[in-house]
Amino acid sequence: MSELALSKFQYLELEKIGFGAFAPLDGFMNEDEVGSVADTMRLPSGQVFPLPVVLDLSAQDAHRLKGCARVALTFEDQEVGSLSPECFFRPNKAALATKIFGTDDANHPGVAHLFSMGEFFAGGPVRFLTRAQLDISPYELTPTETRRIFADRGWKSIVGFQTRNVPHRAHEYLQRVGLETSDGLFVQPLVGRKKVGDYTAQAVIKGYDALIHGFFPENRVLFGVLSTFMRYAGPREAVFHAIIRRNYGCTRFIVGRDHAGVGAYYGKYAAHDLTREFDGELGIEIVRLSGPFFCRLCDGIATDKSCPHGESNPSAIREISGTDMRALLTEGRAPEPEIMRPEIIDSLRGEKLFIEETEL
Ligand code: ADX
Repeated sequence: MSELALSKFQYLELEKIGFGAFAPLDGFMNEDEVGSVADTMRLPSGQVFPLPVVLDLSAQDAHRLKGCARVALTFEDQEVGSLSPECFFRPNKAALATKIFGTDDANHPGVAHLFSMGEFFAGGPVRFLTRAQLDISPYELTPTETRRIFADRGWKSIVGFQTRNVPHRAHEYLQRVGLETSDGLFVQPLVGRKKVGDYTAQAVIKGYDALIHGFFPENRVLFGVLSTFMRYAGPREAVFHAIIRRNYGCTRFIVGRDHAGVGAYYGKYAAHDLTREFDGELGIEIVRLSGPFFCRLCDGIATDKSCPHGESNPSAIREISGTDMRALLTEGRAPEPEIMRPEIIDSLRGEKLFIEETEL
């Protein structure tokens, strides 16, 4: 049988399809599906699906594999699955980027990633054979596993939380709000390919270990990473993230400020607006939350829904910005305790905090 060697990140996409994390997908998207998703945020069946899930390859590999009924997919010389190709096609990447990301600016990390992919995409159903054994794999749960844990714990309402960061107080606040009205919280940081300057997977895992074991009732919180790559597609990615958490058994999903955003490409609450268009169709309730900040007069974290000082005493308000926090930590300085817990900062000691070069 013909073979195609996968990169680590392609393997992780295959694994997520195999896990059912991207249900209803049972393979990499074919040309019709990519077109439909890009144009309408729906699969040809009508089901909501806002982003492509594709297997890229070189023109040479596409020509080599054309006509094969089955292609063995390998990772580090081991067969980890197979593809039954329906088509090989050359996408118009600039047009696709404009539809998906709202820009074809190569400075956008999602666009840059799309442009760096192979010239062709291969679409078709896959068979998944072997679970990944990477450094992050022990921290990852499958949808079957999370659903079983939720059932064992008797949780009926489960709120999912997506993140790519070491937790700061705004994240914690959003999680507590979710916990107040749900049986359980599933914290699922995304640890696949991320851009240079984002936190490493290990830093995020360490930070959450300190938060969950020190400050949350452990029997009401489940932690497991999600190894897919960050698209930085803002609102569309919020819908994608919600669909994934539905597949893991969550009944609710938190979407905060600038969800999956990068730079100034998306409006602060554009993800609230887009997810609202699909209310009732996603199989998961979207919990839209506005931005928590620290208020010196309230002496705690609050939002403009619960604190009156934004208007009357704006100097009392400290916004909590992940970007500022990363800048401080890069300089070896610690954010203030009301912004990030000292215990979390301590837990990061000796860890490599930030991704320094593009991961392939
Ligand atoms: S993301 O790229 O995974 O969305 P991040 O880890 O910062 O990045 O965010 C995780 C979740 O918390 C997202 O739903 C995001 O909208 C929300 N969030 C992060 N920071 C804030 C903040 N300061 N105010 C409101 N929501 C926030």
